[in-house]
Amino acid sequence: MAKINDYIEANKQRFLDELFELLRIPSVSADPKYKDDVFRTADSVKASLVAAGADKAEICQTAGYPIVYAEKIIDAKLPTVLIYGHYDVQPADPLELWTSGPFEPVIKDGKIYARGSCDDKGQMFMHVKAFEYMMKTNSLPCNVKFMIEGEEEIGSNNLGIFVQNNKEKLKADVILVSDTGIIANDIPSITVGLRGLAYVEVEVTGPNRDLHSGLYGGAVPNPINILCEMIAKLKDDNKHITIPGFYDDVEVLSAEERAEMAKAPFSLDEYKKALDLKDVIGEEGYTTNERNSIRPTLDVNGIWGGYQGEGAKTVIASKAYAKISMRLVPYQNSDKTFKQFEKYFLSLAPSSVTVKVTPHHGGEAAVTPSNSIAYKAASRAMETTFGKKPIPVRSGGSIPIVAMFKTELGLDTVLLGFGLDSDAIHSPNEHYGVFNYLKGIETIPYFFQYYAEGSK
Ligand code: BES
Ligand code: MN
Ligand code: MN
Repeated sequence: MAKINDYIEANKQRFLDELFELLRIPSVSADPKYKDDVFRTADSVKASLVAAGADKAEICQTAGYPIVYAEKIIDAKLPTVLIYGHYDVQPADPLELWTSGPFEPVIKDGKIYARGSCDDKGQMFMHVKAFEYMMKTNSLPCNVKFMIEGEEEIGSNNLGIFVQNNKEKLKADVILVSDTGIIANDIPSITVGLRGLAYVEVEVTGPNRDLHSGLYGGAVPNPINILCEMIAKLKDDNKHITIPGFYDDVEVLSAEERAEMAKAPFSLDEYKKALDLKDVIGEEGYTTNERNSIRPTLDVNGIWGGYQGEGAKTVIASKAYAKISMRLVPYQNSDKTFKQFEKYFLSLAPSSVTVKVTPHHGGEAAVTPSNSIAYKAASRAMETTFGKKPIPVRSGGSIPIVAMFKTELGLDTVLLGFGLDSDAIHSPNEHYGVFNYLKGIETIPYFFQYYAEGSK
């Protein structure tokens, strides 16, 4: 398949131009202001799949944003690969920190800067272009289905329903996803684990209106002070989460598994330097890489209340709020965690305030096999294109639908991602290396070839 490199060389500019078209549409699923743009993005993804050679492509409406489904069935007897990705993106704020417009893609220092360049438009589109190559050269060795959704960044609720209702349509042998990363451009890796998520919002109410902090201060409950005290009680001095029962079901890795994990190249100094951190913190008894992958965590993602404008305003707010995420690991359950959190958080509230806990989206952790035909095909494909065998690693991020693929469709997923932790996904100045984009397009056809050979 040496021809893939020639094909990339000959079509490189067009591959970039077409991705740029997609990146220009602000498909922010979280913000209703972009509703029309999100719908437009689905149409654009569908058109690109048709142009690449899909014989069936459709926009599947849901209660939210549509799912783009497409397929190319060459022979019912051959195995089928189901490709999953998402065309929605995170909000671009804070806008003032971007060095160029989030929806005006540009290449700087060999990297494509735009919201969604890596997560996940750039990575999803690699599959469209790899498929185009296999169609053009008549080298598609098995059947392929595409399912590209527009609500990943807001929890994939409608995709969950779609999967449950379309089991026949989605029949496949394996799921292939590029929505994760590699350790470095010269250290390929394949993600074999994702964390789950339980995301809650809390509201603390004190007095029925904002009060003068001199006239009332010291004598009435201040919801912001109280919220801070309650949050502080969620972890002990060893950064262990104090919610009763929280760790009950947590997967315990063996010493061998942890030793294996520790072999992955990692420099704490470089890690700190990349983030301008004086030091790292985390749960006692675990390394940085364990803390951000195999251990559950609890983090405040946002906190607000009171006066935030210019200058000083002497006021005790009536209400205080926080958004809190808990990342979960295998065998924990997000619904159970929601309940444990709510019960404990309410128990921490002094009788002077009212506390409300609202669950947002949740999802379960996933571990994907590293000895399957599909994993081996992905590993061989990366070894072919990077010249090095990829290392299996567990990631701290979440793609909740992966656990559902297993429970609902009985299918394992291969997480063949090409991003870097430094790509600033969800942050200002998100970018994706041109190297990574093209490397993905180069690697995917090898995956198909090796997977079809391995399945014979
Ligand atoms: N692609 C990311 C998840 C990811 C990134 C996993 C890098 C591993 C490595 C995905 O789009 C994402 O951001 N997921 C959300 C969860 C979702 C329910 C909002 C997350 O992890 O915060
Ligand atoms: Mn993603
Ligand atoms: Mn994301």
